Amino acid sequence: MSFETTLKGQNFRAQYAEIAELAGGLAHEIKNPLSTIGLNLELLAEDLEEPQTPREHRMLTKVRNVQRECEHLGEILEAFLQFAKAGEPELDVCDLKEVIRDFLEFYRPAAEAAGIDVSPHLAADLPTVRIDRHLLRQVLLNLAINAQHAMPNGGLLEIQASENDGCIELRVIDNGCGMDEATLEKMWHAFFSRKPGGSGLGLPTVRKIIEAHGGSVACESAVGQGTRFTIRLPVA
Ligand SMILES: Nc1ncnc2c1ncn2[C@@H]1O[C@H](COP(=O)(O)OP(=O)(O)OP(=O)(O)O)[C@@H](O)[C@H]1O
Ligand SMILES: [Mg+2]
Repeated sequence: MSFETTLKGQNFRAQYAEIAELAGGLAHEIKNPLSTIGLNLELLAEDLEEPQTPREHRMLTKVRNVQRECEHLGEILEAFLQFAKAGEPELDVCDLKEVIRDFLEFYRPAAEAAGIDVSPHLAADLPTVRIDRHLLRQVLLNLAINAQHAMPNGGLLEIQASENDGCIELRVIDNGCGMDEATLEKMWHAFFSRKPGGSGLGLPTVRKIIEAHGGSVACESAVGQGTRFTIRLPVA
């Protein structure tokens, strides 16, 4: 690589870091005024709770619309901040089985309410991994929620973990609607979403977290049959 190319690379990296820092700062700055707006809308909605006149009815409808948009903005902001944090894991030697079981304890009630059977298959002799347990939980949550959306009438969600070729392999499998070629091609792109109100940052965050752990993530899917995400993490 020439000296000039190296310099250009360093330049781009510095510019990227500056833009990333600015974007993260901007998102944080927006958070506080947004929550003040949300709070005041809540109070306005309470004042209009029992509308007496057509004018008050119209006002309440408008307040509710702005409230919904505000909540949506808050969700996008949260997803954005999570994406920004994804590249800086705080690694600790962990038992992955414990992290998965912890997650399942938290997620099971939501799964049951959605008619989803969760079936974990975790190898007994799984070696330890160096991971950020909070970020890994985020990965599991993003994949589980995607699976849940893909199974609106309920279904089966399998979570498997085993050792393979010096790596820990974690598979998240659903028997939901699956994805066509076009979706499979674009699903890792930031802001790509086929859901109304989706931020499209769920899978990019998953990938960023796993790659920051020195791992990889792959996906296989078939329309009408389901989807399997396979994550590989290096053994500690
Ligand atoms: N398990 C799955 N089954 C079917 N389609 C999926 C699955 N996981 C992801 N997808 C598709 O990939 C798209 C991108 O997923 P991603 O998680 O990045 O964003 P999102 O789910 O649309 O929005 P958000 O995660 O912010 O709620 C989804 O809109 C969906 O079309
Ligand atoms: Mg998602």
